[in-house]
Amino acid sequence: MLSLDAIRAQFPALTQKVYGKPLIYLDNAATTQTPIDVLVACREYKEKSNANPHRGAHYLGVQATTLYENARNKVAKFINAASSQEVIFTKNATEALNLVAYSYGMSKISQDEEIVLCISEHHSNLVPWQMVAKAKGAKLRYLYLADDYTLSWSEVEKVITEKTALVAIAQMSNVLGTVYPLKDVISYAHEKGAVVVVDGAQSVPHLQTDVQALDADFFAFSGHKMYGPMGIGVLYGKREHLEAMPPFLRGGEMVEYVEEQVTTFNELPYKFEAGTPNVEGAVGLAAAIDFLEKISLEDVKAYEDGLTSYALGKLQEVPYLKIYGALDAKGRGPVISFSLEGCHPHDVATIVDSDGIALRAGHHCAQPLMRYLGAPATSRISFALYNTKDEIDACVASLKGVRRWLGHGS
Ligand code: ALA
Repeated sequence: MLSLDAIRAQFPALTQKVYGKPLIYLDNAATTQTPIDVLVACREYKEKSNANPHRGAHYLGVQATTLYENARNKVAKFINAASSQEVIFTKNATEALNLVAYSYGMSKISQDEEIVLCISEHHSNLVPWQMVAKAKGAKLRYLYLADDYTLSWSEVEKVITEKTALVAIAQMSNVLGTVYPLKDVISYAHEKGAVVVVDGAQSVPHLQTDVQALDADFFAFSGHKMYGPMGIGVLYGKREHLEAMPPFLRGGEMVEYVEEQVTTFNELPYKFEAGTPNVEGAVGLAAAIDFLEKISLEDVKAYEDGLTSYALGKLQEVPYLKIYGALDAKGRGPVISFSLEGCHPHDVATIVDSDGIALRAGHHCAQPLMRYLGAPATSRISFALYNTKDEIDACVASLKGVRRWLGHGS
């Protein structure tokens, strides 16, 4: 692993002060900061190669096409897709999941079939499935979590049955940090004849991704949570599914022949990429993958596990603090949600912000989970590979002052 100093030197945003205090950025599950390599790659693309890909035969057009397709190949290798034709660029994980819902869900799910979701799903892998269930007369069923915030195998066996047409589940919860045993869940769902849609937005920056080893039918993620730009995301889909699915958006470049009354569609992946794509975003995402691979995801995971373990220990020293999630770093990612008795999470976030500490407060776009936990909202810290134990100490010290600040004795 590169030295921490060398890694932090890659992130200009981390060198700034806010309210006269060094920025401590602990909101990485919402979005990560951007390394210089990614900023330079995006800028160079705009300065030297900006053109509309797959359209111009001129020099810049060819350059833009090459950069865009090289980025696709890099993504395919990064997630171990069998072919780059199975990699579709979208604007983010949400759009990728909507693509599956609108195209696969609306054409393949039938009345009385069941769609299974995990109760911890982010709204982007939940609200689209509510739409499909309502439109098709299908039933939504939920996998509920055990008291230790894990998914028990008995729950999997109870809820996923021969009636299940589709399972939609995140690899890592954006609230609890739980990493679900997806390989086993997917294999079990396949035995029952269901396809599995994985929301990988939280896991991809922290774990090695191998869509073939997982045997996922669909796998979605975003660039901006893995040190890339906003506005670029990926949908991986098995070729057999993508070939059989109707287009999601219609327009330029996704067609083969257009006649007055009918259209035939382009081959994969272009069938799903209508309109001018985000080449700059794809180039930035490719640079982010290079950045992560230079460090190695194995080292990233080991380092972040250390941070998570340290933070879990330190947070438990804060009086009146309750953690929502496993207390052991094993089997979870670097996302820790908590409440401070008597303090609204938004007050917590505002008070620690005055110490230069960025964390997230709210329902984290997971309202059904919040209801299940019996908490209207939580505070959440989430780590990236540039965070440090000193930053955790500073955050814990700030949190220890919050209750007093709000007028509680201690
Ligand atoms: N999904 C992002 C989060 O969890 C925005 O913060």
